Amino acid sequence: MKLLIDDANIEEIRRLMDLYPISGGSTNPSILAKYGNDPWNLLKQIRSLYGDHRDMHVQTIATDAQGMIDDGHRIAEELGKNTLIKIPCIPEGFKAMKALAKEGYRVTGTAVYTPLQAYLAFESGAEYVAPYVDRIDNMGFDGVQVVKTIQDIIDNNGYPCKIMAASFKNSQQVLELCAYGIDSATCGPAIIDNFTNNAAIQTAVDKFTADFEKAVGKGKTMANL
Ligand code: G3P
Repeated sequence: MKLLIDDANIEEIRRLMDLYPISGGSTNPSILAKYGNDPWNLLKQIRSLYGDHRDMHVQTIATDAQGMIDDGHRIAEELGKNTLIKIPCIPEGFKAMKALAKEGYRVTGTAVYTPLQAYLAFESGAEYVAPYVDRIDNMGFDGVQVVKTIQDIIDNNGYPCKIMAASFKNSQQVLELCAYGIDSATCGPAIIDNFTNNAAIQTAVDKFTADFEKAVGKGKTMANL
């Protein structure tokens, strides 16, 4: 499962990319709004951090199909190759997806709460769908199960499509989808850090260092012995 960053904080993206195996990133209009009023400048900085070879999913803002298509053209033009145009899975969105996919653009169907939204996105030419795991949980349904059902739709219909699961609030949600073989998870910085934020892990590593230093001297490593 590929790991993406669902954030637009430049310092955080830089830090996470330095540490972890990051395959790309995503934003949505609410995330962009947290970081000022110049989204193009921000998105271009983020694109340069990811480089041209990593996928970046960027959302349209317009609410009608033609506006979404125009937003999509601009997104692809400004941010280049490997930028996926995120379009909400609403009726006007499917119309826009069909047009953009026909023109050869890469499309991600977003705001997915139900498997049938995903099904319509796949039939409309979307490469990815982004189901919102925690938001579904908060509605009293099972977000992980919704994603698994979408994966079953892909597998049983032979769609050449993938899932970028989104809206995570804990590691267990990510783990269950990783074990199920979902293509990608896009997570906020805190969720990614929490994969290894466990006192037992740090205690084990500290003990290894202390034992070794006791035998060979403080600050000694394999490199400087
Ligand atoms: O980008 C869509 C999704 O990741 C939203 O997440 O945390 O706002 O539920 P969240």
